[in-house]
Amino acid sequence: MRQFGQLLKNKLAMTLAPNYLCPLCQQALLLTDKTYRCENNHSFDQAKQGYVNLLPVQFKHSKAPGDNKSMVIARRAFLDKGFYQPLVDKMLTLYQQYGQLDEPLLDAGCGEGFYSHQHKTATNQVYGVDIAKETIKIAAKRYQNCHFSVGTLSKLSFADNYFSWLTSVYAPILETEFTRVLNQGGYLLTVTPAQQHLYELKELIYHNASEHDVTKTPISNLTLISEERLTYPMCFNNSDDVLNLLAMTPFAFKASNELIEQLKSTQEFSCQADFILRLYQK
Ligand SMILES: C[S@@+](CC[C@H](N)C(=O)[O-])C[C@H]1O[C@@H](n2cnc3c(N)ncnc32)[C@H](O)[C@@H]1O
Ligand SMILES: [Zn+2]
Repeated sequence: MRQFGQLLKNKLAMTLAPNYLCPLCQQALLLTDKTYRCENNHSFDQAKQGYVNLLPVQFKHSKAPGDNKSMVIARRAFLDKGFYQPLVDKMLTLYQQYGQLDEPLLDAGCGEGFYSHQHKTATNQVYGVDIAKETIKIAAKRYQNCHFSVGTLSKLSFADNYFSWLTSVYAPILETEFTRVLNQGGYLLTVTPAQQHLYELKELIYHNASEHDVTKTPISNLTLISEERLTYPMCFNNSDDVLNLLAMTPFAFKASNELIEQLKSTQEFSCQADFILRLYQK
């Protein structure tokens, strides 16, 4: 009987409809026949991959905001190889140590869902929001047990105090909005580059490569609970991995054609992964 209860709980967590607010009038959205609708009759269709686009045109600053398709494809190919798995493992250790594993979690600026889906437990609801439709499309297609939406982090379509855990990996950190959707006692985990992150790759591009500036943190009102640095070498013996890594970075645009050709014939390359994980509490 107890086993059946647990099975039912698991099934419910898998199938519970997501709780979104209408981005236009902030009323609750109800899902019926693959359409989300609020009481003011604003409606948003569920795409065939299962995500919903909650970014009205008037909120867009460009036609296709966020990362473009080639960056998205490069990031997925790179992450699939497991080069950043030690980072996920650290994030999950913190989640297991401090988090409420059956409460809603948001991955803010989730990209293609690599970090979001690894936080899915038997009973929590995992949401991923990103402004780039191309990345949400592939996230939703692959990770069907999470809820993905296209939206902006500066105006999240969720009720106040809805989440007990927020993750932000290499994405914009908007403290006011993140604080609004976090419940009292809830946590925000940010992952940002530490000094030496991809330094060897940067050196190939810039004559005077500089270290990342880690002194600035965009958080001032939440309480810092822990700060950890994670550093490890990544060794590549396949030029595609290095090219994908480069394509994921903001300095890809600075790489000359000559350098790209050089990387294509690279047999071996190694560089540092260097992250700072900061855990804050509301
Ligand atoms: C460097 S990527 C990181 C993606 C993912 N967290 C990861 O580490 O694989 C930054 C992400 O933030 C998204 N982004 C940038 N500005 C945003 C905004 N205002 N609202 C929502 N997402 C945004 C981009 O589209 C992109 O997917
Ligand atoms: Zn509405």
